[in-house]
Amino acid sequence: MPHTRTNILSPQVERDLRAAMLETYFVGKWAAKDDCDGSRAEIYEHVRRRFDMVRNWFVPWVAHAVDLPRTRIVEIGCGTGSTTAALALEAAHVDAYDIDGPSLAAARRRLDLLGVRNATLHQHAPERLLSTMLAEHPPGSVDMLLCFAVLEHCKHNERIDTLRTCWSMLRPGGVLVIADTPNLLTYWDAHTFHLPFFNQLSVDLALAYAGRSQRGYIRDALLGALAVSRQAGEEKLARLGRGVSYHEFELALGDVGADIVGDGFDPEPVSFYGVNLETRILFTYAKRKGLPIPPAFLRETIDVILRKPGGADARRLRPRDLDAIVRPLVDPA
Ligand SMILES: C[S@@+](CC[C@H](N)C(=O)[O-])C[C@H]1O[C@@H](n2cnc3c(N)ncnc32)[C@H](O)[C@@H]1O
Repeated sequence: MPHTRTNILSPQVERDLRAAMLETYFVGKWAAKDDCDGSRAEIYEHVRRRFDMVRNWFVPWVAHAVDLPRTRIVEIGCGTGSTTAALALEAAHVDAYDIDGPSLAAARRRLDLLGVRNATLHQHAPERLLSTMLAEHPPGSVDMLLCFAVLEHCKHNERIDTLRTCWSMLRPGGVLVIADTPNLLTYWDAHTFHLPFFNQLSVDLALAYAGRSQRGYIRDALLGALAVSRQAGEEKLARLGRGVSYHEFELALGDVGADIVGDGFDPEPVSFYGVNLETRILFTYAKRKGLPIPPAFLRETIDVILRKPGGADARRLRPRDLDAIVRPLVDPA
């Protein structure tokens, strides 16, 4: 059963949020015209779909791993503030960082409209964000680090550096939460180009083939960048979003299997994402091959809570019957 929490956005607040998003984040963007279904869906996404989604499954999921009212959170990639606001309504405090000015302007308006006072927004250039964050939150000091729908928009080195920096900032017993991040090891690129096998393509081949995407604004963004230079094309490919996999976690943090205290097979994420063909294939393949990959990295999206060893909190991964959840019908032998 999906977890659905009480609606806290009145029609007036929803209207005000919509105006706020159009006056900030959407200025100059294709969707600001509000003249087609795609535009309306994109605007709704930032007005309330993400906020509702975070409140309905993500907050209750994280609440199993941490005592939210006593938890101070550092969020990387807060965007227009859906995650920040939903968490701040239940946590002690949120420090939210991003590299994008219009997103932060939108986040500021959202926090004001919702009366959220326990969140602080920070904007820094990508090359300074991690060092500044580290100066403001020294190693070993943070209760919870969050990257929600962010790592897929980072370049390779940024991703590895982000994971390492986050881990170093956590206090013993603190948690690193990565969520809503597309898994590179899936056949369908559901996040960006909506093309089969796109995640498997090399950068060269992806750049050459991306023009076949039916997702007009994504395709045009990439082709426009490629028209400027090959380097701009590569940058755009990364920023539009490419999947992440267990390989990066292994390279950045080593073997994290024993530190996982929550994953995408828990009831809350399953209630939201379900278990689709991509997940069944990946889970079944790893199982039949006997690959020692934690289940957290065998779903279409990576949702994982990692607890840094050494703290007093003993809450662990909840027991569940993975075979029953996945029902590996693809290869039932
Ligand atoms: C898809 S949005 C997610 C926003 C928000 N967490 C949510 O779920 O609504 C990704 C955000 O990550 C930010 N971002 C991308 N690369 C980043 C980096 N290296 N450091 C910090 N933020 C980054 C982008 O500016 C964007 O606001």
